[in-house]
Amino acid sequence: MAKPMLLAAAAALVLGLGSVGTGAGTAAAQTMAKDTSGTPQQRAAAMLAQMSEAEKLTLVKGYFGTDFLPAKFTAPEEARAGSAGYVPGIARLGIPPQWQADAGIGVATQGHIVSKRGRTALPSGLGVAASWDPAIAYEGGRMIGFEARADGFNVMLAGSVNLMREPRNGRNFEYAGEDPLLAGTMAGAAIAGIQSNRMISTLKHYAVNDQETDRGAYNVLLGEAEMRMSDLLAFQIALEKGDPGSVMCAYNRVNGPYACESRFLLTDVLRRDWGFAGYVMTDWGAAHSTAAAANAGLDQESGYGLQKDDHFGEKLAQALANGEVSKARLDEMAGRILTAMFAHGLIDDPASEGHAIDFATNQAVSRRAAEAGAVLLRNEGGLLPLSADARRIAVIGGHADKGVLSGGGSSQVYPLDGPGGGNAVPGLEPKSWPGPVVYYPSSPLEELKKQLPDARFDFVDGSDPAAAAAAAAQADVAIVFGTQWASESIDVAMKLDGDQDALIAAVAAANPKAVVVLQTGGPVKMPWADDVGAILEAWYPGRAGGEAIANLLTGKVNPSGRLPASFPASEAQLPYPGEPRKGEVAYTEGAAVGYKWLDKTGQEPLFPFGFGLSYTHFTIDAQRLVPGEDGAMGLVSEVTFTNSGERKGAGVVQLYASHPGWEAPQRLVGFAKVELEPGDHAVAKIAIDPRLLAVWDADLRGWVVESGDYQIHAALSSRDSAGYNTLTQEKMLFLPAGWKPKK
Ligand code: BGC
Repeated sequence: MAKPMLLAAAAALVLGLGSVGTGAGTAAAQTMAKDTSGTPQQRAAAMLAQMSEAEKLTLVKGYFGTDFLPAKFTAPEEARAGSAGYVPGIARLGIPPQWQADAGIGVATQGHIVSKRGRTALPSGLGVAASWDPAIAYEGGRMIGFEARADGFNVMLAGSVNLMREPRNGRNFEYAGEDPLLAGTMAGAAIAGIQSNRMISTLKHYAVNDQETDRGAYNVLLGEAEMRMSDLLAFQIALEKGDPGSVMCAYNRVNGPYACESRFLLTDVLRRDWGFAGYVMTDWGAAHSTAAAANAGLDQESGYGLQKDDHFGEKLAQALANGEVSKARLDEMAGRILTAMFAHGLIDDPASEGHAIDFATNQAVSRRAAEAGAVLLRNEGGLLPLSADARRIAVIGGHADKGVLSGGGSSQVYPLDGPGGGNAVPGLEPKSWPGPVVYYPSSPLEELKKQLPDARFDFVDGSDPAAAAAAAAQADVAIVFGTQWASESIDVAMKLDGDQDALIAAVAAANPKAVVVLQTGGPVKMPWADDVGAILEAWYPGRAGGEAIANLLTGKVNPSGRLPASFPASEAQLPYPGEPRKGEVAYTEGAAVGYKWLDKTGQEPLFPFGFGLSYTHFTIDAQRLVPGEDGAMGLVSEVTFTNSGERKGAGVVQLYASHPGWEAPQRLVGFAKVELEPGDHAVAKIAIDPRLLAVWDADLRGWVVESGDYQIHAALSSRDSAGYNTLTQEKMLFLPAGWKPKK
């Protein structure tokens, strides 16, 4: 097949570089790559000084890692099979290629590829965030990064932290919820875990890419202060906690320019104010210009071949020749990429393919994450854990006899093929992008049977509500599985798919001892909520999800997840109840995202942010504010927290602060997950980041903590009112390093 013109030109460039590599000086240059003395910046600068302009250009243009027939594109030979991306290396200098793999849930394979790379899937990003435990996120990141590295990848396109402004966003399952502190902390921990494998992780999609409808074109309208206190704060916290080598700019526009050519986002905020030392890569096809993007702060274009246009290839060479982009800027772009490659071990410890993976161990990591993130939303009369004397159990719907659901799109991880492997429910629509729909072969029904060998199980598939009701009526307990499939590139209705609400209502009418297990991308309405005995939100629970669900239902594991996002009662409660918009998308709620909006407008959600039950009980007995160790700005809340029930379990202490004049009545300012034996107590010491007590002053370009009284209280959810501590504060300013007044 003939290659398109642009690719042919680019391939020639790469070949040309190969021949440079055989010339004099190669040995000396490669020695330089091996000399590990100096900081990453110093090493990058020394390397850059050895490089020709063509070599620098090589580093700033990425290819799609997979053949793409609609664009008649053949991936470079060295790209890893089925992968998202590839950036050529420079052999003569000892600079390896950048092999890029999606994404945050595990090592994904592009959907249109026939031979899938079967790897271990974590629960969805939202499910991991629901654990409220950064150690769980770190461990999951470490595991998926290990698998990526074992396959020869050295850049993982993970670290998704877009805020849940729109509960119908089809990608909410990849993200970490609606609160900047929680989302930033959890995504940051996952990034740190991935990068512990000597590889780069991204942080994405920068920024305010909070819906999929019209994602390549819509223009977010949101004031700077509001953005800094919401979406950007989530990115900032994740950046600080995770130190990602790269940031991926998003498809959409933000207040005019495309995110990937926004000087405000890429240079003013990211570099000047946050001091980001790594490089910015585009999302796949998110570049729209050459000089404008490069001069705004974009360092690398990704995925040439998936889209036809090619802004950082030949066009960038021309822009350099005619002075539209300076040579110093190219040095900065290539230098940033090299700095991140040195800093994260890509050059000192080159990736290679074919290493062994211990799938059993990794599956256990995924299972623990699913167990830590599932949220028990209702448990009337202690219906759960399942009683050992339940003799007859009806299991209904959700393909629970076969496996557990996962989310679709570029982050889709496929299970290993072979006996007991592969997609447990093949052939569901959509079969091609944004599908396929994948169920992991981990059956909740089979796992329940193993744990309750004396019970009789009757499975009905749920396609006929009358048959389901009949099975439920004859059972001691009916467990009904509700699903909502979501995916990249689509937004979804805030409800279970198809007629499952009617199915659940029929089951509940037949047997009040109905347990609903949900597998959803995000919040859904539950018109039957008051009629069922118990509800467990299991999100997309990952590769060992069936086992995790069974462990939670039987009480082998005590549920400890808390909602990382509000579950609104209906669309009418949303800032914008209509269908997700196209074109101009004005986020008039500003920084009042999620619970902040619901609190501000006095609306009662179905289930509030931070909520989740346990098989034991927790109480908050005392709370006091003490100065932190790091001087005047540090503030620590000490919360005495007791397991007052009869089982071991983990609870989440949440700290909320209030101050007049904020975007909403309260903000989450700290949290800690604490595991306790029955009757035990602990004192959780939770540091409060002063930015969470501040407002962003766009004129001053800094955080301002106003003088006055601040109410701070420890709680078990955002709607749990307990005693307040009052902090009386003098006015404080926090200005970024190197601050200069606005002109
Ligand atoms: C997604 C990114 C992903 C990239 C590469 C894009 O469609 O938005 O999240 O990393 O594709 O597959």
